Amino acid sequence: MKILAISGSLRFQSTNSALLQAILRIAPSYMETITYEELGDLPHFSPDKDGQHSPDVVLRYRKALMDSDGVVICTPEYAHGIPGVLKNSLDWVVGSGEYVNKPVMVLSASPSYMGGDKAHASLVTSLRAMNVIVVETCSFPIPFARKKLKDNGEFADQATVEIFQNAWLQFANAIRSRMQSFADEHLR
Ligand SMILES: Cc1cc2nc3c(=O)[nH]c(=O)nc-3n(C[C@H](O)[C@H](O)[C@H](O)COP(=O)(O)O)c2cc1C
Repeated sequence: MKILAISGSLRFQSTNSALLQAILRIAPSYMETITYEELGDLPHFSPDKDGQHSPDVVLRYRKALMDSDGVVICTPEYAHGIPGVLKNSLDWVVGSGEYVNKPVMVLSASPSYMGGDKAHASLVTSLRAMNVIVVETCSFPIPFARKKLKDNGEFADQATVEIFQNAWLQFANAIRSRMQSFADEHLR
């Protein structure tokens, strides 16, 4: 299974990016994980820039999505919404459809006790509008995010490890189920 991982933060010492890497490190061995590194390079979306001569960075982004069986997003909350760069990345694929029927694990991480719940809800709303399969059993806000990791980037405690091990199992089940439905639709 190919998993594309996207952090909604461009910050060098981002908690969301660090958490995402810790989560990827404990992914099941049958998953191949790829971190998307060009979120900040996507131009501001305009339908006028899209079409026959879409920017190469956009084409690479769309291919990365197409090639993946599932996507994990871990995002901060900015002013009770999602960061503009993350929303911009969604806007580039509303029309082209690479996210359609893609299972997605939606995480938001914040130092607050709310865990960026409003960004989480906003992201889920946008993804659902794009016909994404938001896998609810492994999608949740992560409160007190800075306490979840040690200085070396590993999870701070076993309870957190188990939360994400379980999230991976739920996600793998959702991806398998989607693969089965796809096969059923196309082999009928
Ligand atoms: C512009 C800005 C707006 C923010 N707004 C919120 C917010 O609405 N809710 C929240 O929980 N944290 C908010 N924060 C704090 C972020 O959760 C915190 O900086 C977090 O570490 C950012 O994620 P990152 O470490 O992955 O970059 C905001 C931070 C910035 C820079």
